[in-house]
Amino acid sequence: MQKRLGILTSGGDCPGLNTAIRAVVNHATLTYGWQVVGIPYATRGLRKRQSVVLAVHGLDLHGIDPLLCIGGTILGSINKGDTLDNIDEVLSGYKALELDALIGIGGDGSLRIFHQLQLQGNCQLIAIPKTIDNDVGLTERVVGFDTAVNTIVEAINRLTFTAASHDRVMIIEVMGRSVGHLALQAGIAGGADIILIPEIPYSIEGIYQHIAELRQRYWRRFAIIVVAEGAQIATDSLIYSQCEQINCGMGQYIAEEMRHHSNQQIDIRVSVLGHIQRGGIPSAGDRLIASAFGKAAVDLVAEEKSDLMVAWQNGEVVPIALESVLQKSPQGVDPDGFLLQTARSLGIYVGELDGNHPQGRSK
Ligand code: F6P
Repeated sequence: MQKRLGILTSGGDCPGLNTAIRAVVNHATLTYGWQVVGIPYATRGLRKRQSVVLAVHGLDLHGIDPLLCIGGTILGSINKGDTLDNIDEVLSGYKALELDALIGIGGDGSLRIFHQLQLQGNCQLIAIPKTIDNDVGLTERVVGFDTAVNTIVEAINRLTFTAASHDRVMIIEVMGRSVGHLALQAGIAGGADIILIPEIPYSIEGIYQHIAELRQRYWRRFAIIVVAEGAQIATDSLIYSQCEQINCGMGQYIAEEMRHHSNQQIDIRVSVLGHIQRGGIPSAGDRLIASAFGKAAVDLVAEEKSDLMVAWQNGEVVPIALESVLQKSPQGVDPDGFLLQTARSLGIYVGELDGNHPQGRSK
C-alpha cells in the first residue's frame, strides 16, 4: 500500500536538516515507493493544511543533489511557534492532508509537541533529533551540533590572532540556550583559556585570577573566554535581571564587570556569534548523522512504529520512546563528565564547583 508520508522541520534551524529530508525522500520513494510531502513551517503548515510533494527527481540539478549540502531547511521552520494548546488544530490538519505518517525533525521543545500529538490523536509519528544545542536526552549525537562546533572553533581561531596582536581579552558569546555543550566542546577544541557554562557557576574574581595567572606564569597577555549565553555568575543569582536591566548578553555583562573589577585596566572586546552558529553548509559529521537518521526513521514508519525518536547510541541508530527522551531533556553538561575533566586538566578555568574559590586547575 502506497503511504503518504509527511515530513516537517520544527524549532531553530541548523545545518543538516536538508540532508535528513533528502535521506527520507530518497529512501521512502526509491525503497518503498511511497509519496513524500513536505509540510511548510512545522506545525503551522499542518494547521493551514499546506503540503508540497517532494520527489527525488525534483531534488537534483543535472545530477547534483543540492539537499545534501545546503544549510537551513527548504521547508521553513518556526521556533517557539505552536504550543501544546494548538494540538487539536494540528491533528485535524494531519487528517485533512490525508497523511499516513509523519516524520518530525526537531529539538526538545518540538519533540514535546510531537509526543503530545500522539497522546491526543491518531497519528503515526517518528522523530529525528536536531539542535545546535545538543541538549536532547538519550542520544549521543543530534543533527546540527557538529557543524556549529566547527563554526565556533573557526571564529575562535580568527579571534585569537587579533587578541594576541593587541594583548586583549576576547570574550566570545555562543548559543546553547540553557546548556553549555557548544561552549565547552568548541572552547576545548579552540584552545580557550576560560569556558563559562550554565551548569557550573563562576565568579568575576575567578576569571580575573586566572587571567592574572596567565600573565604571571606564562607571560601571556591575551586571553580567550568562551561564554555560553545561558551562563550565570556564581555569586549573583540576579544575573538575568541585571542583564535585562542593562539589556545585554552574558558576554557584554562579563566584560563590564571585568572592566569595573580591574579599574578599566583590562582591554576587552566582545564578539557575539549569534545566528552564524546556525548557518553554513553541514559538516561531514552532520551529513552522516542526518542520512542515517533519515533512513532509520523511514524504516520505523514501514514497521508501523510510532511515538519514537531515532537516537545515536554506541555507534548505532536505535529507536527510543519519545516519553523516555523527554524525561531526560534538556540534557545539560555533566559536571563530573570527562570533557570537563579534560578542560580542567588543560588548565582551562571552567568555574567554581564549590562556589568558594576559583578552581581552574585539575587536582
Ligand atoms: O535552540 C537553538 C537556538 O539557536 C538556541 O541556541 C538559541 O538560544 C535560540 O535557538 C535562538 O532562537 P531564535 O532563532 O528564535 O532567536
